[in-house]
Parts: sequence; C-alpha cells; structure tokens
Amino acid sequence: MARTLSPETVAIVKATGPALQKHGLAITTRMYERLFIFAEIRDLFDMAAQDSGEQPRRLAAAILGYAQNIDKLENLTGAVQRMVVRHVETGVRAEHYPYVAEALLPAIRDVLGEAVATDAVLAAWGEAYWFLADLLIAAEAERYAARANAESELV
Ligand code: HEM
Repeated sequence: MARTLSPETVAIVKATGPALQKHGLAITTRMYERLFIFAEIRDLFDMAAQDSGEQPRRLAAAILGYAQNIDKLENLTGAVQRMVVRHVETGVRAEHYPYVAEALLPAIRDVLGEAVATDAVLAAWGEAYWFLADLLIAAEAERYAARANAESELV
C-alpha cells in the first residue's frame, strides 16, 4: 500500500461511521438516485443484476462498513478480492470511480445534513473513499491484464 491515511481522517471516519451506518439505507438510496442519472453507469448495474439477481446495495454497504476497518485494513483483504472479481466480471473501470465518489459524498450530506456532514467530514470520507478506490483500481487493472493475456494465448 503506497499511501497511508492521515490519523485525522481515520479518527473522523471512525467517529462518523456509526451515523452513516444508522442512516445507511437512506444514504444508499440517495446515492443510487444520483448515480443512475448516468446511463452508462446504470447499464453496468442492470447487467450485474441480471447476472446475479441481486440489487447493487452491497456497494454502498461495503463503503459504509469500511469505516469499521479503517484502522485495520488487513481485515479487508478477502472482501477486496471479492469486489475485484465482481467488478472485473461486470466491467467496472477506473473512470467509473469518480461517479461513485460524486454520488456518495453529496448523498451523505443530503441525508445527514450540513451540521453533521461538515466539510471536514466529507473531506475525510472523500480521502477514505479514494484510498480504497485506488486499491481496487490497481488490483482490477492487474486482473484485466491477466485476463487479456490468457485470452491472447487462446487465439
Ligand atoms: C470504493 C469503491 C467501491 C466499493 C467499496 C465497491 C464495493 C462493491 C461490493 C462489496 C460489491 C459486491 C461484491 C460481491 O458480489 O461480493 C460490488 C459489486 C459491484 N460494484 Fe462495486 N464498489 C466500488 C466501486 C464501484 C464502482 C465505481 C462501480 C461502477 C460505477 C461499481 C459497480 C459495481 C457493480 C456493477 C457490482 C456488481 C453488482 C451485482 O453483483 O449486482 N463499484 N462493489
């Protein structure tokens, strides 16, 4: 892991994690309203839902649940690996990550309000989101490359 999170960010994310989880359903719902304005993003989930028969709720749940492990990231290794596999199956790419950030962070403010979701809180969650996103993007790039290699060997 190249970067580390600042102690201030870890402290804020841990302190606000319970409030986010308590309102998790409302935040998730608002996040998807914002996210699915973009047809190319909605299409990724439509394909996934047909595949697995599951609602894409786990994405937001995972981001929110991440707060619990923000200071013990080694606990996330297995979960991250499952996300990587699923993302590569459904065609998630690095350029999709800003859409989720830009849907999630305003959704947190919409639901919790400015008094709780202050600028400092949103900045900390933004930093934490990108920390996890960067891990996923790097692991997914490797998996896409391995898949492309395997395919080229078959030709
Ligand atoms: C830090 C950011 C992200 C986290 C923590 C995350 C987390 C997850 C998790 C936990 C799952 C379920 C994996 C499983 O089936 O076990 C998932 C699936 C999925 N994610 Fe992500 N994700 C992130 C970013 C994104 C982005 C940027 C997109 C695309 C816009 C995306 C699209 C999807 C899709 C389409 C699925 C499959 C849903 C299904 O199986 O129905 N994710 N993600």
